[in-house]
Amino acid sequence: MATAPWWQCAAIYQVYPRSFADGDGDGVGDLAGLTAHLDHLVSLHAGAVWLSPIFMSPMADFGYDVSDYCDVDPIFGALADLDALIAAAHERGLRVILDWVPNHSSDRHPWFLASRSSRTDPRRDWYVWRDSAPGGGPPNDWPSTFAAAGPAWTWDETTGQWYLHSFLAEQPDLNWDNPEVRAAMHDVLRFWLDRGVDGFRLDAIAKIAKDPELRDNAGAARRHDEDWDTIHEHLRGIRRVVDEYEDRMIVGEVALSDLHRIVSYVKSGDQLHLAHNFVFCDLPWDADGFRISIDDFEALSERAAWPAWFLENHDHSRVATRFDDDGLGPARARAVLLLLYALRGTPFVYQGEELGLPDARIPADRVVDVDGRDPERAPIPWRPPSAAGPAAGFSDGEPWLPVVDDAEALCVESQAADERSALALTRRLAALRAQTPALQTGEQRTVDAGADVLAWLREGDGDRLVAAMNFAVTATPLALAPELRRAPATLLVSTDPDRTGGALDLATVTLAPGEALLVRL
Ligand code: GLC
Repeated sequence: MATAPWWQCAAIYQVYPRSFADGDGDGVGDLAGLTAHLDHLVSLHAGAVWLSPIFMSPMADFGYDVSDYCDVDPIFGALADLDALIAAAHERGLRVILDWVPNHSSDRHPWFLASRSSRTDPRRDWYVWRDSAPGGGPPNDWPSTFAAAGPAWTWDETTGQWYLHSFLAEQPDLNWDNPEVRAAMHDVLRFWLDRGVDGFRLDAIAKIAKDPELRDNAGAARRHDEDWDTIHEHLRGIRRVVDEYEDRMIVGEVALSDLHRIVSYVKSGDQLHLAHNFVFCDLPWDADGFRISIDDFEALSERAAWPAWFLENHDHSRVATRFDDDGLGPARARAVLLLLYALRGTPFVYQGEELGLPDARIPADRVVDVDGRDPERAPIPWRPPSAAGPAAGFSDGEPWLPVVDDAEALCVESQAADERSALALTRRLAALRAQTPALQTGEQRTVDAGADVLAWLREGDGDRLVAAMNFAVTATPLALAPELRRAPATLLVSTDPDRTGGALDLATVTLAPGEALLVRL
């Protein structure tokens, strides 16, 4: 087998700990719950688990507001529980990736408490403080990422200045232009690397580099509040720390809409290992658009950057709901699973995606997130409510968010018993990828397959596979080039449970609405 690094071969499974499994009955998921369910990840052949933040936090942004970077919040457990999780994961061949939040701390972090205490405090410059604009009001026109939070500045009475927050006012931005901040945050990485974690997801990473002159965004050719040129030296500094340890990986949340810029975070080989591709995540449902985006990444990367693919995480409406205008959402959620596991690149699968979950319905009086992200954060239904009660095996208590409608059919236990389920499909796809070098490291080429069909070829180790995915609402013939159409083919997997396996005549095959399939030539 190829000697590609683990983070290229493995599929990575994202856990949102609050909503995965509750071990202590308080209605919020925790580390003990996750450790007890690790075999679910093993059944999905996951090579690594990425945990959304489990650090000490007042939870204004559910853990993305960190008040102690080097301790576990009691709602999730204790440091010992994290050690136990890492050990249990490693025993199963699963790596553990933590979510490092470098751009901002909580406003309750001792660093910020010191910084806001006086203009002369030694930590004053660890955050970004400014006077009012000449005419009064915030220093510039930068907005918070959360529309509900308004401007990215909050006035602080005590010292009579504004502080910057790219997200909530409870998440003041650290000043990455200050070398002491960089050193302190590097030490946070070392703290966790020393405890045996295998890497990090770098939260909101483009935000750590801003125009030091804090000029307005309006009228400028590019934004001044993120992705400034200093990003590359900051990333190199982070990478050097991670490279002090063997075989670790960093993946960045590169939330930019320009693929050139995303690739520039990865391509040089001394910055990120992987970048979450937000251009891809934000695509409309269109075969040509997906093809162009896949080809663009390949072209821009010049084979120096390894792709990472995702369409779901804890910030985005789930595929089954997002692409459901015509009722085909559930079929498309299955097709996307095939896409993720069969593309050249590292698949990131978000908890519940393997179940084809839709977004949950959140009644107005249960809304807790400022930015409308509760529906995709609903707890995982493990067992049928008829047997396990309304929390569907997620918790013995009242879950912090309601579980999805139809947990009876969608829960893990019901799907595990049903060969036609999304879970059974995901397990087949994951196993196939784990056993097939051509799917992990093989070459890739997108190919013509007729209107509304995305198709691609994977080749390697003497193996040749074709994947095809129908974006249309109707049944669509697969119109491959004669060279591929004539080859004898065997169906490896289809996302349509009604299609039977075995030999497949590619010259005559018609894809069902929303169907994707993978064949061996
Ligand atoms: C990232 C996280 C998101 C969080 C934000 C601020 O986008 O994925 O959940 O709210 O950063 O940390």
